[in-house]
Amino acid sequence: MTEAYRLAERARLDARNTFGVPARADLLVEVNDAAALPELFGYAMLRDGPVLVLGGGSNVLFAGDPRGAVLALTAQSIRIVEDGDGTDARVTIVRADAGVEWHALVLWTLGHGLAGLENLALIPGTVGAAPIQNIGAYGAEVGDCIHAVEAFERPTRTLRRLGADACAFAYRDSLFKREPERFVVTAVEFALSRTPRLRLDYAGIGEELAAMGVGAPTPSLVAEAVCRIRRRKLPDPAVVGNAGSFFKNPIVPAPQADALKAAHAALPVFRGNDDATRKLSAAWLIDQCGWKGHRENDAGVAASHALVLVNHGHASGAQLLDLARRIAASVRERFGVALEPEPRIVGASW
Ligand code: FAD
Ligand code: EPU
Repeated sequence: MTEAYRLAERARLDARNTFGVPARADLLVEVNDAAALPELFGYAMLRDGPVLVLGGGSNVLFAGDPRGAVLALTAQSIRIVEDGDGTDARVTIVRADAGVEWHALVLWTLGHGLAGLENLALIPGTVGAAPIQNIGAYGAEVGDCIHAVEAFERPTRTLRRLGADACAFAYRDSLFKREPERFVVTAVEFALSRTPRLRLDYAGIGEELAAMGVGAPTPSLVAEAVCRIRRRKLPDPAVVGNAGSFFKNPIVPAPQADALKAAHAALPVFRGNDDATRKLSAAWLIDQCGWKGHRENDAGVAASHALVLVNHGHASGAQLLDLARRIAASVRERFGVALEPEPRIVGASW
């Protein structure tokens, strides 16, 4: 795509969401040059109506068609904007456009001898979406490596650069997630290191490296171990439609977690966002309610992981949402814990 942007009316989104459910956009705007955004958002449909920014569609559920326009960012560049000398732990700044595939960026950084993103290997989606829910896996969160986020701010129609501190990163949360109509993320700058600080403590990584026969792990080998665990645990959206974890792990007050743990010794409990809260395993709660492997026509729960809703072929987003609501109701009834969906639900409310 060489032009700054391209428009398509009545565009199908079926192949643009990893659940693979049918949906259609009244207007799809593909933007290759972020500098065109102030002009584009001057047009009435983008200026006044709702706009859904869509990356790889790996964290959305189309329970209906989106209202208004859908915007996709396609720019693909990755470059080092400031190189470190290897003496400081965090001094190499890499800038990637929003349209870059996330895992391609992880491989690019590792190929350039840069550590920091290795535990986040193989997460589907785009660079632009990574800060939205502060993607996390295997003991790391992307916010820990973000230097700045470049974003178009709709109310002011300006291109801004927000330092990491302004992004309010928390577990599966950020400023961008809380105000979904305000920002279009156009690029992300990452603070990476030529001096690796490996995070191997998260369950399974050490064992996987040992099974690979690795005695002296490197960032690339850690990424390989993470990929191997992920391929075993999570269904591949190219084979069966899904959006990864459908629910966030619930964060509850510590006394509530203590009471649940006293009644259910096997419940996995982790530290929450602070000392007063705890994070519970949503997968365990759902598993205990008997949903794992459950199937209703083509909507179901993965047999390999209770937190993953799957589309076996022709489920609609509305069917998947209905199933999700009943799963959450059963967990609430049995354990008194409210589950919240992780993906953005489009065309319906939770
Ligand atoms: P989309 O699904 O297109 O969008 C997600 C949200 O971000 C939407 O609200 C959208 O409007 C918004 N958005 C997207 N791009 C922009 C932008 N440029 N500017 C503003 N808003 C934007 N997530 C994890 O955190 N950890 C995991 O381990 C993980 N594993 C997964 C495994 C599988 C098999 C799958 C299918 C998903 C997994 N996910 C995981 C969820 C998903 O991959 C991430 O949330 C990812 O960042 C979504 O990227 P995307 O480009 O597909 O975003
Ligand atoms: N468990 C069950 N039944 C299951 C699966 C898991 O009881 O079917 C229990 C096990 O006890 C296990 C625990 O749940 O120890 C946690 O499971 P897992 O290690 O798979 O992690 P998770 O909490 O289910 C989270 C993220 C994933 C991320 C992994 C690895 C959330 C909502 N999910 O899953 O992110 O990849 O940890 O770090 O935080 C995503 O967000 O889409 C996603 C896949």
